[in-house]
Amino acid sequence: MTAMKANERQARLLKRTSIDFRSTEQIVDAPFILSRAKGLYYWDIHGKRYFDAIGGIFVASLGHGHPRVLDAMRQQMDRLSFAPPMHGIADVTLDFIERLGEVTPGNLNFVKPFSGGSESIEAAMKFTRQYFKQTGHPEKYKFVSRYQGYHGGTFGAMAASGTGRRKTPFEPQMSGFLKVFSPTYYRDRFATWEECNRFCARMFEDVIVSEDPRTVAGVIVEPIGNTGGTVTPTDEYFHILREICDTYDVLLIFDEIITGYARTGNMFAAQTFGVTPDILCGGKGLSSGAIPLGAMIAREDLGDAFYGSEAAEVNFAHGHTFAGNPLASAVGIAVIDEIVENDLARRAGELGDYLVDGLRRLEKLGVVREIRGKGLLRGVELMRDGKACPQLGVALKRTAMEHGLVMRIDPLWFAVAPALISTEADIDELCGLVEQSIVAALQVIDA
Ligand SMILES: Cc1ncc(COP(=O)(O)O)c(C=O)c1O
Repeated sequence: MTAMKANERQARLLKRTSIDFRSTEQIVDAPFILSRAKGLYYWDIHGKRYFDAIGGIFVASLGHGHPRVLDAMRQQMDRLSFAPPMHGIADVTLDFIERLGEVTPGNLNFVKPFSGGSESIEAAMKFTRQYFKQTGHPEKYKFVSRYQGYHGGTFGAMAASGTGRRKTPFEPQMSGFLKVFSPTYYRDRFATWEECNRFCARMFEDVIVSEDPRTVAGVIVEPIGNTGGTVTPTDEYFHILREICDTYDVLLIFDEIITGYARTGNMFAAQTFGVTPDILCGGKGLSSGAIPLGAMIAREDLGDAFYGSEAAEVNFAHGHTFAGNPLASAVGIAVIDEIVENDLARRAGELGDYLVDGLRRLEKLGVVREIRGKGLLRGVELMRDGKACPQLGVALKRTAMEHGLVMRIDPLWFAVAPALISTEADIDELCGLVEQSIVAALQVIDA
């Protein structure tokens, strides 16, 4: 079951590139080189099958190679595959803007499509700053986000991220970005989870007030934070954030790049938590992985501030060559239609409960501290003998791959987010593979 080392050519080529946040030496030692994927499975170049328990990386929402998605792209390819972004827009991109607006909460109807999550976050922050500049509040420019949050790899998105040592190589960071702690980080200091959430939500207010609210433009949070270990606040937490943002005229920005498109039991986590942000950023599952796609979706009335004459230079001063790509737009529509027509949001809620039951069965191994998340986005915090045990997660990274299981492992926790098209039998298979991988990891650390 052990992974095959890279051959001489593969090792040479792997050294000429880099795998995200991974040591190339480790990759050369146990390379995962894929040749195809279908539904919930990948096959590597040796023909070994892997269960994709994380949808790539929260991307393949409808599974890999979904026929409706691929058909939509093929048909669009024959008509128009590129539209000039400084001259106009594809008809299908207008359709995409309309379709996305139909499934977002509130009046989140101003849609600027992009090619991924970081671009959408960058755009949201630029949109926010420009909005305040041209509506009489040029001094509003700061953003408050969370430690352990991740909003992307570009400089602005990185500045909003709270990923500690991952950011150190690129310091100094951009100024004007402030951080607070997430409820999970502080939970042991409070008698109840609710109390902890209230305190952590109020910390945003403390920072905004201390900074001078006249200088604060936006609050950026992932409704369920991945890098902090599937951080899942209470509904009340988001209601408090909404109230604080309204009080101090600060825009509330939800990073729904992981949580969007039915993952948490509703089309967006905003609906799951019952709070509508001013701007919502999407990416990942919006294309089910068929093509790069993201979107910044703002309140329509905020978008109105960017409507004006050419002479007055009123426009959103931002764009990317491949943003609003017609193929990506066709794919986005197909993904949304498939989710809506098959009620996959409701399905994610139901199947999510089934997944939690399956993950609870791991408790007998004595390694589960907490199971978090909503719908088909679940994280398990690991422990051993009642304490954090990073060695277990490190071993699990290897044993999971050996068992043909792809999931996100921190190493203090792991996360799973199977495709929305999964069946109960798929969830059983996933949970079985997780259990076998953990048992093998325990054997490794006890050896
Ligand atoms: C919550 C969140 N926001 C933003 C991003 C950045 O998206 P992308 O990698 O598509 O630029 C990611 C990517 O992992 C993410 O998980």
